[in-house]
Amino acid sequence: MAQTSLLQGKQFYCREWVFHKLQHCLQEKTNCCNSAGSHPSLANPGNNASAGSGKGAAWGVLLVGGPGSGKTALCTELLWPSSPAGLQRGLHRQALAFHFCKAQDSDTLCVGGFVRGLVAQICHSGLIQGYEDKLRDPAVQSFLQPGECERNPAEAFKRCVLLPLLGMKPPQQSLYLLVDSVDEGCNIAEGEQTSGLSGTVAELLAGHHEFFPPWLLLLCSARKQSKAVTKMFTVPISVKQRHLSLAWLIGCLGQKHMMPVERLEK
Ligand SMILES: Nc1ncnc2c1ncn2[C@@H]1O[C@H](COP(=O)(O)OP(=O)(O)OP(=O)(O)O)[C@@H](O)[C@H]1O
Ligand SMILES: [Mg+2]
Repeated sequence: MAQTSLLQGKQFYCREWVFHKLQHCLQEKTNCCNSAGSHPSLANPGNNASAGSGKGAAWGVLLVGGPGSGKTALCTELLWPSSPAGLQRGLHRQALAFHFCKAQDSDTLCVGGFVRGLVAQICHSGLIQGYEDKLRDPAVQSFLQPGECERNPAEAFKRCVLLPLLGMKPPQQSLYLLVDSVDEGCNIAEGEQTSGLSGTVAELLAGHHEFFPPWLLLLCSARKQSKAVTKMFTVPISVKQRHLSLAWLIGCLGQKHMMPVERLEK
């Protein structure tokens, strides 16, 4: 990984249970891919009957906690483990790409920059063979051009990230895309309208999550107060034939069962 730990030498404590759950989630994704399942179709998004129907469905993990509860520290420890146990677990090796949204750094909130950063990391990771070759296609490259990518980040995300990944042979082990503070930059006060389909990193991810390859786990963190964002990532299970999105996270790692939100509180 290009960056180094944001903990900057500070010792990381506890949270073993979260890493354990994440390991389980990744194993679930790997198992999903090993059993046959239909892929989501970007070409026909309205007709994606397989999504949400079990195996291969798009579910992810949304880590919620209050300000200062340790979400960023946890993401950091996940990517750059500092403890022998963390290193041994090896979850950092399953990171396909990561992004830290920071309110004070507008570049990190730019959706076009987010997409370009993902593409660069996936290329450099070497985890997906053949991805770089797909990216060499001038038609694909055109979506990443400065200006173009900012104008239409959703199209760039589809053409340069999702479609190439969906066309690849799945890796032996599932991988994850980590986005810390996905709620940053979403000045969506409760009750306000969102800015459009892909106006923020959160909107881009929530709007396209059902088209993620089944071997790719979306792992995001957000403040629990950011209700608009947590809602964006959850779909009532009663809405049939829609993706579970990150509801599973809230359900599974979330307040209902195994990971009460309060557990991340100081
Ligand atoms: N498990 C931990 N071990 C050691 N230090 C930690 C741990 N969790 C949090 N910290 C420290 O506590 C402080 C706040 O943590 P952090 O920035 O991760 O919170 P956060 O949940 O991301 O907050 P925000 O919602 O403001 O983004 C930081 O200095 C961080 O290094
Ligand atoms: Mg944080």
